Amino acid sequence: MAPSSAQPPAWYDSPLMKAVRGEPSGRVPIWLMRQAGRYMAEYRAVREKTGFLELCKNPRLCAEVMLVAVERLGVDAAILFSDLLLILEPLGLKLEFPGGEGPLLHNPIRRPEDVDRLAELESVEPLDFVMEAVRQTRAGLAERLPLIGFAGAPFTLAAYAVEGGSSRHYRLVKSLMYRDAGAWHALMSRLGRAITLYLKAQVDAGVQVVQLFDSWVGCLGVDDYRRYVLPYTRSIIEAVAPSAPVIHFATGNPALLPLLSEAGGAVIGIDWRIRLDDAWRAIGYHKAIQGNLDPVVLLASPGEIRRRAREILDQAAGRPGHIFNLGHGVLAQTPVENAIALVDAVHELGSG
Ligand code: CP3
Repeated sequence: MAPSSAQPPAWYDSPLMKAVRGEPSGRVPIWLMRQAGRYMAEYRAVREKTGFLELCKNPRLCAEVMLVAVERLGVDAAILFSDLLLILEPLGLKLEFPGGEGPLLHNPIRRPEDVDRLAELESVEPLDFVMEAVRQTRAGLAERLPLIGFAGAPFTLAAYAVEGGSSRHYRLVKSLMYRDAGAWHALMSRLGRAITLYLKAQVDAGVQVVQLFDSWVGCLGVDDYRRYVLPYTRSIIEAVAPSAPVIHFATGNPALLPLLSEAGGAVIGIDWRIRLDDAWRAIGYHKAIQGNLDPVVLLASPGEIRRRAREILDQAAGRPGHIFNLGHGVLAQTPVENAIALVDAVHELGSG
């Protein structure tokens, strides 16, 4: 929303916020999912001394790793440094990042009765360190750069809560969904209320826009998405959108795009499995779009990266409302110079 003072803060007219609103932005803004991470030497140096969860709970270090990454890359926005799964701790799940294999939840929700032991998030107080990270990142960031908050979407969080970690077939979460509609509804509504509270608190703490990550929802077909997911995601977006615009991101199944658009979000974030021009048509031109370079392209040469960036910009065809990003997070093997080459190429080829 437009701030009420006569002079809006500098971030209000930034290329990213203009693109979010679908306004012409002078140049195509770019930021990268997982822009602060193991591919960056500065991040690895911090992680040598600090465990990942410990880092997430240290607002000063969270602000530092994000500000260093933003400076190094020259991107058009910062994203809160945190993790999708932290919200599951105050709900009663025991979270660990054993290193290498990705996250692990020690007491997953497996049977319908288990849903009852998931706590209701009554306040964001147990996640105060996240709000402090927002305040410190905002304080250290140039005023012209927007700060993005985020949360997992209810399906992706439910998938982690039920599977207990990453999964190949999503057998456990889908069988809970198919076998017990009541338990599924209880789980998704409880997660939905927690996510809404959490995102609103991030906005109050100082983020300008929020991204909802539905990273694993692509394992569902269209009819299941409509029945088991869309109502819950829609109610979160409806509750948050009056305070801040929402980027609604999903991967894996381009057939879901019209439904993602229906569920809401000023911006729909897409992966590389569909061309950006086809995706935008499916989403509708009344919404902005974010994406969609395959993160593996960043392992190729700078020349190839530039060529592929140009292809995506050509598909956007100068239409207002394109935010350049990868189709998913930066891979740990990415040479940092290649990420910088992408940012520079998008700034050069996407201006005017
Ligand atoms: O984008 C950013 O730079 C902000 C920080 C951020 C992280 N995780 C830091 C992180 C964000 C936005 C996330 C979101 C997140 N976390 C998602 C959604 C995005 C996506 O990739 O789909 C998911 C699914 C998670 C859960 C999660 N956290 C996984 C699967 C992993 C392990 C993946 C890996 O690369 O090993 C994490 C750990 C994690 N989250 C790291 C970082 C920087 C790596 C931790 C480390 O070893 O230092």
